[in-house]
Amino acid sequence: MTTIVLYCRPGFEKECGAEIQEKAAWNEIYGYLTLVKKQGLVYFHLHQDEDADVLMQKLPLKRLIFARQWFATITDKLTLPEYNRVEAICEALGEEWQYSDLRMETPDTNEGKSLSKFCRKLAVPLRQALRKTKVLTEKGDNEGVNLHALFLSGQEVILGYSFTHNSSVHVMGIPRLKFPAQAPSRSTLKLDEAFLHFIPKEQRETRLTSGMKAVDLGAAPGGWTYQLVRRGMMVSAVDNGPMAESLMETGQVKHYMMDGFKFTPMKQNVYWLVCDMIEKPTRVAKLMADWLLHGYCKEAIFNLKLPMKGRYQQVQQDLQLIKDLFAEYRVKYEMYAKHLYYDREEVTVHVRLLSTPPLAS
Ligand SMILES: C[S@@+](CC[C@H](N)C(=O)[O-])C[C@H]1O[C@@H](n2cnc3c(N)ncnc32)[C@H](O)[C@@H]1O
Repeated sequence: MTTIVLYCRPGFEKECGAEIQEKAAWNEIYGYLTLVKKQGLVYFHLHQDEDADVLMQKLPLKRLIFARQWFATITDKLTLPEYNRVEAICEALGEEWQYSDLRMETPDTNEGKSLSKFCRKLAVPLRQALRKTKVLTEKGDNEGVNLHALFLSGQEVILGYSFTHNSSVHVMGIPRLKFPAQAPSRSTLKLDEAFLHFIPKEQRETRLTSGMKAVDLGAAPGGWTYQLVRRGMMVSAVDNGPMAESLMETGQVKHYMMDGFKFTPMKQNVYWLVCDMIEKPTRVAKLMADWLLHGYCKEAIFNLKLPMKGRYQQVQQDLQLIKDLFAEYRVKYEMYAKHLYYDREEVTVHVRLLSTPPLAS
């Protein structure tokens, strides 16, 4: 039986499972789930073996909110011998298929973290052995297939594959970002990751560039503003709380001590709207749609805080609200949502209007 293995934040296996099952069903692909709670692993066992390949070609990973990474299994869980692990893995793979990259992965848990040292060590001889038989080819293009080795322990591994063009470039879907010492809060990593995730590398120079105007709603103490300032933007920071002095000293930030729901820009020259207000997600979703429809900004990145229960349903409901409003005004847009690595009880949404804002004055 072929299984798609999905990685998510530990504790969100139920949401990740519900989502893959639902989105697979839209493609008339069916299966059942095994969730490994608190390990961030979801197994979607497909009724038809060939469906794994079809689904991983048809459904873009970026359309999944809760899955960070995925692969289709080549083997079931293998028990490795204490010695000659490399040989055992090579034998299980055979020589029929080629892969352009090897991903050594573990569950995103404390045990997983201690296993990753072992994985790094094993990766060297394993790569060498796979290259020798040309099972592992040269890395580089976007056309290839990744080989995944998910280690559940030093003795247990699941082997699988994903398509390079439809998988995360990061091992386990986790970008390792460095916390900038000058940033006033750890939240800064969320916006840094969001830019990395939502804006393609080759477009960052035009869509995230120096001189742009940005608005940050719920800005204090300034972790998100820091990311905008760092990219040379001029920022209107809206929050009743205090902003970090270091940011105010840059001369790139104007602080508005007021309610983010009441602020509107004076001129229609804002490119980015970012919003991290701890508020009811439905209220935030409406506000974001309102800004875009009025042409107050061109692109928005915002967080939707998740409730304790019914988290997937809540996100879907809030995204649907935006979709319905945009459909009503017949605007073209793109919208993606992701539970990013640096997010906790929230998901990050990116919306970009692709046609003229209908309510712009
Ligand atoms: C999670 S913190 C933001 C952290 C910030 N993004 C950073 O990186 O430093 C949420 C902020 O939203 C602000 N906030 C909540 N409701 C707001 C509202 N209605 N108007 C303006 N700010 C609001 C709070 O004062 C708080 O500073």
